[in-house]
Amino acid sequence: MKKLIVLCGMILMCAFTFAKGSKSIYVGTNPEFFPFEYLENGEMKGFDVELMEKIGEKIGKEIKWKDMAFDGLLPALQSNKLDVIIAGMTATDDRKKFVNFSQAYYTSTQKILVNEETNDIDSLESMKGKSVGVILGYTGDVAVSKIEGVDVKRYNGAGEGVMALKAKKVDAVVLDSEPAKNYIKKNTGLKLIDTDLDKEEYAIAVSKDNNELTEEIDGALEELMEDGTYDELMEKYFN
Ligand code: ARG
Repeated sequence: MKKLIVLCGMILMCAFTFAKGSKSIYVGTNPEFFPFEYLENGEMKGFDVELMEKIGEKIGKEIKWKDMAFDGLLPALQSNKLDVIIAGMTATDDRKKFVNFSQAYYTSTQKILVNEETNDIDSLESMKGKSVGVILGYTGDVAVSKIEGVDVKRYNGAGEGVMALKAKKVDAVVLDSEPAKNYIKKNTGLKLIDTDLDKEEYAIAVSKDNNELTEEIDGALEELMEDGTYDELMEKYFN
């Protein structure tokens, strides 16, 4: 009888800890953002992917990756279909109203991509009267949509936007600097122009109901920054 009670107690405890802290977490990203996340032979690769895997090791969670459209990520997190988003996502004030963000792990800026022969676009203001490609839901979309008199064309991914630019369907594309630089490297006939937009900080997003996980992720990030892992990843992907 005693044994049975102990056994029942153990089963209950297991069930409880399992419900409270599952061993895996669903992490959403949109792998069209080199070198932060991209697909290589169908496999998820990149700076964010490795960083998140290391965080998972630190906090004892297996990462289950979910490949989604960028503008579907935040709604999925808010409806608890995801536990975490890591996607080169800028921690904007607007997004902070709806989700928690970890500390920042990367600082970025927006750049303008144009065809080499384009000489009359050198700032956001100079885009007035032009047609400009942005990627749906990106911070570049938000920024360009605020400029009056721009014909904004929204694309589902950066690759699509760059193709439209090369085909001269748009006069420019606004995109985060690292992926933008990569498109310049991989394509001929394009050049990069600076914008005067504010710097942006990438951070990891977690649901507002999950302060515990936010803190765990922050702690793990801190450790990875101190023990040299973060620097190694920076070196690997950005040098
Ligand atoms: N930094 C921009 C934003 O937060 C673009 C991020 C795009 N990321 C991606 N994985 N496709 O809106």
